[in-house]
Amino acid sequence: MKVLIIGATGDVGSEAAKRAIAQGHQVRALVRPTSNTGRFGDMAGKIEFFQGDMLDRPSLDKALAGVSGVIISIRLTPGEMQKGRSYMDVEGAGVKNIVDAARQQGIGKIVFISSAGVGPECISDMYQAKYFAEEALRASGIDYTIFKPSGMFKDFDAFHIPNVLKMGKASKWPFGPVDTHMNPLSHIDLAACMVSALDNPRTSRMTIDIGGPDCITSCDLLNMIAREAGIQTTYTEGVPKEQLIAMVKNSPQKGFFTAEQIQDFIIDKPMDHAPIRDMFGIAFERIEDYLKKAVPRVREALAQK
Ligand SMILES: NC(=O)c1ccc[n+]([C@@H]2O[C@H](COP(=O)([O-])OP(=O)(O)OC[C@H]3O[C@@H](n4cnc5c(N)ncnc54)[C@H](OP(=O)(O)O)[C@@H]3O)[C@@H](O)[C@H]2O)c1
Repeated sequence: MKVLIIGATGDVGSEAAKRAIAQGHQVRALVRPTSNTGRFGDMAGKIEFFQGDMLDRPSLDKALAGVSGVIISIRLTPGEMQKGRSYMDVEGAGVKNIVDAARQQGIGKIVFISSAGVGPECISDMYQAKYFAEEALRASGIDYTIFKPSGMFKDFDAFHIPNVLKMGKASKWPFGPVDTHMNPLSHIDLAACMVSALDNPRTSRMTIDIGGPDCITSCDLLNMIAREAGIQTTYTEGVPKEQLIAMVKNSPQKGFFTAEQIQDFIIDKPMDHAPIRDMFGIAFERIEDYLKKAVPRVREALAQK
């Protein structure tokens, strides 16, 4: 299938591009002059790059011409924020822009990533935009698959692992609650599921809560990281969600999450992985195996700072 990936230079999108090529799809990517196309290495030669922006309809129309499927893996990046663009501009109206253009061109399939917990009751700009995009897709008449992951391993590298390493023998996690459940997964596995959804009939017109094989609390995760790092400690306590929200309301910090975003994305969401495994038939990476590679990698990066 000829597939357009929007967000192909992102973490999930770039893995989707590699997977799609490996599966024999013809891959086209919508990129900007500033996009890091270097991350594809030798594979770049197998990708048809189209310059454009998802908010610019003419460039979208050109990139969509002749494709049968679209993968959307975008995010409001810091660069977009600097342009004055909001969550609704990019992750809401921007996605609707793609959906409208795709409908006009008779595109058969759109695969999109939203997030676990996104719904009509959400109060934050981030999750309201994602819900707007989901609804635009569900109402479009185009065959769609929407993935709603509850967390990805890659975020552990930037947040959980360095903080556990820095805090040493702590037992209280000062950044949030530790009793909420999640089934995080590798972004590489998520990308594989997104590519599968292009032509997997079991995913047709589906909004899928997706997670990996391990259902853990944040406390479990912190203790797994400490164990892997050889730190003799057990995390037992965190900061309750309502207390965290009150702290953020009292002293909001630029560049950090707002109280509304925290309200929406700290959720307790244990998931049954079995239907996901059956639907996609891949061996999802386990958290333990990921941490074996990630903890030494993050420790080395911290040592070099
Ligand atoms: N991390 C998690 O645990 C988690 C959980 C649930 C859901 N998600 C969702 O997963 C999605 C993908 O995340 P990610 O980490 O892969 O994102 P990412 O690495 O930040 O990539 C974002 C991509 O969006 C592109 N983009 C942004 N604005 C654009 C525009 N106006 N026109 C064209 N392209 C544009 C960027 O292009 P440039 O390279 O040109 O900037 C980049 O390729 C996000 O929506 C995120 O919210 C993540």
